[in-house]
Amino acid sequence: MDMLPERINLLEGKHIILGVTGSIAAYKVVALASRLTQAGAQVDVIMTDAAQKFVTPLTFESVTGRPVFTRIWDSQGYSGMPNHIAHVGLGEGADLFIIAPASAHTLAKMAAGMGNDLLTLTTLAADCPILVAPAMDGTMFSHPATQANLETLRQRGVIVIDPDEGRFASGLYGKGRLPDTTTLMGHMRLVLGRSGRLSKAKVVITAGGTREALDPVRFITNRSTGKQGHALAQAAIDAGASVILITTSEQPIPVGVTAVPVQTAQEMLQAVMEHIDDTDVFIASAAVSDFRPAAIAEQKIKKASLPEGPFSIEMDRNPDILLKIKAYRQETAIPRVVVGFAAESENLVENAKAKLHAKGVDLIVANDITETDSGFGADNNRVVIFDGGGGEQRVELATKTRIAEVIIKRISRILSRKKAQ
Ligand code: CTP
Repeated sequence: MDMLPERINLLEGKHIILGVTGSIAAYKVVALASRLTQAGAQVDVIMTDAAQKFVTPLTFESVTGRPVFTRIWDSQGYSGMPNHIAHVGLGEGADLFIIAPASAHTLAKMAAGMGNDLLTLTTLAADCPILVAPAMDGTMFSHPATQANLETLRQRGVIVIDPDEGRFASGLYGKGRLPDTTTLMGHMRLVLGRSGRLSKAKVVITAGGTREALDPVRFITNRSTGKQGHALAQAAIDAGASVILITTSEQPIPVGVTAVPVQTAQEMLQAVMEHIDDTDVFIASAAVSDFRPAAIAEQKIKKASLPEGPFSIEMDRNPDILLKIKAYRQETAIPRVVVGFAAESENLVENAKAKLHAKGVDLIVANDITETDSGFGADNNRVVIFDGGGGEQRVELATKTRIAEVIIKRISRILSRKKAQ
């Protein structure tokens, strides 16, 4: 049951132009067009002649459900407009224009202000943000001409997505590979979200299960994967926030997020305190271990050194990060909004409400960790959000993306209310 449709609030109803040029990576953006469409965006694809050597327009038409634009003078109309002004119609109504993959040739034409095909012509007519994702052999990417063209485009406000390093179709290694679909979407989300409800707000999020070392090879941890915390970081970016994610998790870091990797509860607390002073919103989604081994053995604990029968390991209490933030907030009134999580295996409502008050938070997000289709490690979650006023919002089984959007929306409402006071 991991496959709920991946709708994304930010992309719902957005008009996106995807310009595809002649690069072997053209086949990869079929997945991008598909994911954007599934997320709720209206995707209009423009292909150059060279792009059509790699992928056919029919492929993109099939995944977007919309006609694909290929030539300036062909018989397609756009929204009933005469064909020859398709570029203006496309460019004007769009929320974002991404050229991916962007070949060296198309980048050169854009830098020179040429418009001899529908794609470059539309870039000239567009009044929305333009992103380019260069994809070409490493030698072509590092060529001074390409670098100068990219610099020219940057100076004109075009956002250049840095290509990845790796192996090319030619067999060579270098920098110039098209980033994966999630990364491309991440760059688009960063741009589309920047004037959102949390623009100018700083959000600090903790995520993942802490790891408390016993010796150089062993640690005590829990089943948290950090998926919900990383989804919250993405949802905060979608809302325009600047985001610091203090995480133990190996989950991908959303584009635009500043990640602070940590392992233990003590390291997490230290990182939180280092970043808290100008924070508007603190979200404690991490599963922080309440205890740690009292001592960390310098060398691996050998079996022979252990007693034959049962034995015990001495533990120490870990700091409670949320309680530290509660104390800090009582002194400074910072952060303005604090959100905690409650992972419960019994008496969810009572325990969550008790934590809401004990931890001094504005919202507590409770999930029942005994459910098998949600919670730890799953892509979906089912939560109840409690607020200080006694309110209770039940969110039925949904993707962690959707749950994160609901939480961020609640947070932005509280923040704007507090700012207005
Ligand atoms: N939390 C924290 N520091 C800790 C333990 C928990 O900041 N040392 C935060 C978690 O990130 C979460 C909230 O407190 O937002 C509740 O965590 P949870 O593990 O559910 O509760 P505990 O405080 O550990 O309480 P209990 O052991 O009674 O469940």
